[in-house]
Amino acid sequence: MAEGRLAGKNALVTGAGSGIGKAISVLFGREGAKVMAADINEEAASSVAAQIEDSGDEARSLRADTSSEDEVRAAIGAVVDAWGRIDILVNNAGIGGQQYTWDQVIAVNQSGVFYGCLHGLAQMQKQGGGAIVNTASMAGLIGAFVPGFPGGFGYAYIAAKHGVLGLTKQFGLDGAPHNVRVNAICPGWIDTPLIAPLKEAQPMLDWAVQNTPMGRLGRAEEIAKAALFLASDDSSFMTGAYLVVDGGYTAR
Ligand SMILES: NC(=O)c1ccc[n+]([C@@H]2O[C@H](COP(=O)([O-])OP(=O)(O)OC[C@H]3O[C@@H](n4cnc5c(N)ncnc54)[C@H](O)[C@@H]3O)[C@@H](O)[C@H]2O)c1
Repeated sequence: MAEGRLAGKNALVTGAGSGIGKAISVLFGREGAKVMAADINEEAASSVAAQIEDSGDEARSLRADTSSEDEVRAAIGAVVDAWGRIDILVNNAGIGGQQYTWDQVIAVNQSGVFYGCLHGLAQMQKQGGGAIVNTASMAGLIGAFVPGFPGGFGYAYIAAKHGVLGLTKQFGLDGAPHNVRVNAICPGWIDTPLIAPLKEAQPMLDWAVQNTPMGRLGRAEEIAKAALFLASDDSSFMTGAYLVVDGGYTAR
């Protein structure tokens, strides 16, 4: 039997093909979980699963678009079919940037998390427990005052991430009597492909770094460690709550 803080647990991670989701999937595998890496980009998900397997841990992958309720339900079902139950669900898939419309951002970043919480809780309640971790953002706590850029992080992004914290609280309450914990992470600026446009505009990158008291971008692996805490029994008395991992950004 695998060893580690997630030994014997089965996990589904959405948006597992890149950035934070990839780092979470790899760390969960290393900590003994069987990992189902799900992503709208099937090739990326499959390469992450292969990386986990190459390290001697257990993983599979599937394509799932989290803006589709049917696909989210099916992804949860696939974990149960493969391994008998789902102990951990990380609703991590998300998009951001000016290329997306209001409806697209809300569909992935908010509705996708809702579908995961709804069907994840139903399955976990049936099996007697589990842990759900939602990737929110510091954009779920604050707006961003970027001189010359009305809308800050993006109106839909801000709205959706605030919504994720609302869903985390409500599903946390709903799951509490059933041994299902629901918590969220609020990352600050993290160096992943999501912020590629920011990195292309040096003044914007400088602005992000200068406004982060620790003076640097975060790493995906630093968010994965927070996800591990929330997914593991180490956080056994936490639900409906969130961890801020932002290098001090929101403490100012
Ligand atoms: N990078 C940051 O600075 C930062 C900060 C706060 C919060 N976040 C959040 O962290 C999460 C992960 O972001 P990241 O930085 O790792 O970005 P990323 O772009 O590196 O990875 C996102 C992954 O999600 C997948 N994806 C996109 N739409 C999908 C969909 N509809 N269904 C399934 N998968 C989909 C992409 O294919 C990609 O593999 C997102 O929810 C994001 O909003 C990121």
